[in-house]
Amino acid sequence: MHKIYVTYPFPDGWLSLLNGKVEIEVQPKNQFLSSNELGERLKNKDGAIVLLSDKIDKTVLNKAKNLKVISNYAVGHDNIDINEAKKRGIIVTNTPDILTNATAELTVCLIFTLIRRIIESREFLRLGKFTGWEPDLLLGYELKGKLVGILGVGRIGTEVSRKLHALGAEIVYYDSSKKKEFEKETEAKKKDLKWILNNADIISIHLPLTKDTHHLIDEKELSLMKETAFLINTGRGSIINESALADALRLGKIGGAALDVFEHEPGVNPHLLRLKNVVVTPHIGSATYRARKGMAEIACKNLLAALEGEEPLYRVV
Ligand code: DGY
Repeated sequence: MHKIYVTYPFPDGWLSLLNGKVEIEVQPKNQFLSSNELGERLKNKDGAIVLLSDKIDKTVLNKAKNLKVISNYAVGHDNIDINEAKKRGIIVTNTPDILTNATAELTVCLIFTLIRRIIESREFLRLGKFTGWEPDLLLGYELKGKLVGILGVGRIGTEVSRKLHALGAEIVYYDSSKKKEFEKETEAKKKDLKWILNNADIISIHLPLTKDTHHLIDEKELSLMKETAFLINTGRGSIINESALADALRLGKIGGAALDVFEHEPGVNPHLLRLKNVVVTPHIGSATYRARKGMAEIACKNLLAALEGEEPLYRVV
């Protein structure tokens, strides 16, 4: 029987597809392992199901001599040194599609929460400041008619665009290629990054984290945005230089931000937690019962297929 390591005690039944098929060792909750320690755990394992918070680097892979498959419980795979895995012939898989709608819905939710000042409004009530209806109390913005720049129109960026288009927003997008079908469906127009930064009312990030997208949004890019513009990130934190963003927000250089992901998770720049015009959530983009359970099933199927020498549902390398 193949030996498997799972880095999180998933809820009952989520990994039931593995029952009787593999021998499983599960890492207890809140046990944070160094690369050396994780490598040790993987030493005699044939496969692993890992989280996006598990860094699978060269140190881990050097120790994991028997490893044949890494089944990542996420669509993003920037936590894994893909080149090193490839060199060793290790199959890496991920879990796209099932989480697209959940993440897109959260993105739309964050946009409305930010532009209609929902968190501030709740705080206002909670502090007993509501003394009566006033014409200019807690004014915000409407999405309808706003120009939204989507950075990256893969699965999630496309779904976010569809939803925003249906709500009356005008879509422009930044992507390496022109997407004709997408343009037809959403009336979106392709623009370069500078154009989007200069003109968009709302910018939403849906790119993968790579060497090229690391700090794609830095001090210079933030300075090109309109003073009233909002920045949304449900992709990966390191696509934005978080301290540059905190400065831009503190100094009123942009209108606000809604962030589900952070550069140094689980750490968050303390300014971002204090500012009124910032909405933050702890990386919950795919956190629906349907998506997270579905991701577990796909992670199991990917793992079993790869171990059986079959093509997994979603293979990265
Ligand atoms: C992913 O899958 O990459 C998300 O960030 C978490 O679901």
